[in-house]
Amino acid sequence: MSDVAALQSDLLAQIAGAADEAALEVVRVAALGKKGSISELMKTLGALSPEERKVQGPLLNGLRDAVTEAIAARKAALGEAALEQRLAGETLDITLPPRPENSGTVHPISQVLEEVTAIFAGMGFSVAEGPDVEHDDYNFTRLNIPPDHPARQMQDTFYVAPQADGSSHVLRTHTSPVQVRTMLNGKPPIRIISPGRTYRVDSDATHSPMFHQVEALVIDEGIHLGHLKWTIEEFCKAFFEIDSIELRARPSFFPFTEPSLEWDMRCDRSVPGKITFGSGQDWLELGGSGMVHRKVLENCGIDAKRYSGFALGFGLDRMAMLKYGIADIRSFFEGDVRWLKHYGFAALVIPSLEGGLSK
Ligand code: DAH
Repeated sequence: MSDVAALQSDLLAQIAGAADEAALEVVRVAALGKKGSISELMKTLGALSPEERKVQGPLLNGLRDAVTEAIAARKAALGEAALEQRLAGETLDITLPPRPENSGTVHPISQVLEEVTAIFAGMGFSVAEGPDVEHDDYNFTRLNIPPDHPARQMQDTFYVAPQADGSSHVLRTHTSPVQVRTMLNGKPPIRIISPGRTYRVDSDATHSPMFHQVEALVIDEGIHLGHLKWTIEEFCKAFFEIDSIELRARPSFFPFTEPSLEWDMRCDRSVPGKITFGSGQDWLELGGSGMVHRKVLENCGIDAKRYSGFALGFGLDRMAMLKYGIADIRSFFEGDVRWLKHYGFAALVIPSLEGGLSK
């Protein structure tokens, strides 16, 4: 074996035996580095005769190429092996089952509030809000319920200690004071709903000291009872998701409306534990309404000769109880997680209201 062939097989053996990239680099420098064995041999070419160089040159070039290639191949193999090893070490065990997630639910009253707001928004109403602690004046007096009026007793409420400036406040007994606030702050045309919390000294299966109402108020030129009836009809069809509805208006009395009407809707309770809305032999009470009293318009700075309006006030809790079959109003506010899981809603999705909206 020539010297070159011996050197080549020796170097190839060293390359194959290099355990890692650092060892391989040592072999490379020893062969191809400035003072490496191959480089030293290359330097001898200059001293050779042309004939000898013709023979020795290609031999040495072949040696250099073979060693360079072998180093590159070994380097790639070592790199791959190192990567494999790292990946094997970093493997994640994703077979562990995740912990069960406890997600909350949307409270039925929040759900109903969303539904009611969406339906009225579709009819061009915007949402107005007022405070829970309300001026006595807005809650009663401007709504035509003067201090000595017996209607104040009907709405027996929580009174707040008189303020230093002599003004007195109550926890609002209804959402009607938002009518006052809206009329004092804006000009007709007015078309608002006002959902929110209300308070009375009352507690049994159908009364809670804190409950919810939604008020609607429309003020414009030429507003009449027909507008009121249409609005209630459209609202009920959309809310109860029915195509047709039979309504009944009963004469009533509220100090802030003249005339005042209470509305009932046909329903069917003949199957125990089930209620069908819109038709049937029975009546279901919906809530109060009427044409806004001239005195209320005047108390709120609206020209009663030019404008007229209607208002209504329905119980949100009552509507949620009816629609979703909830028997006791108090259960809404007890915070029983099992109850909330059962009656709550998965997300703020308004279920199939298209069924009821007028076509
Ligand atoms: N505020 C009344 C109540 O709580 C409900 C009501 C009746 C509201 C007639 C109205 C209305 O706007 O027109 O008992």
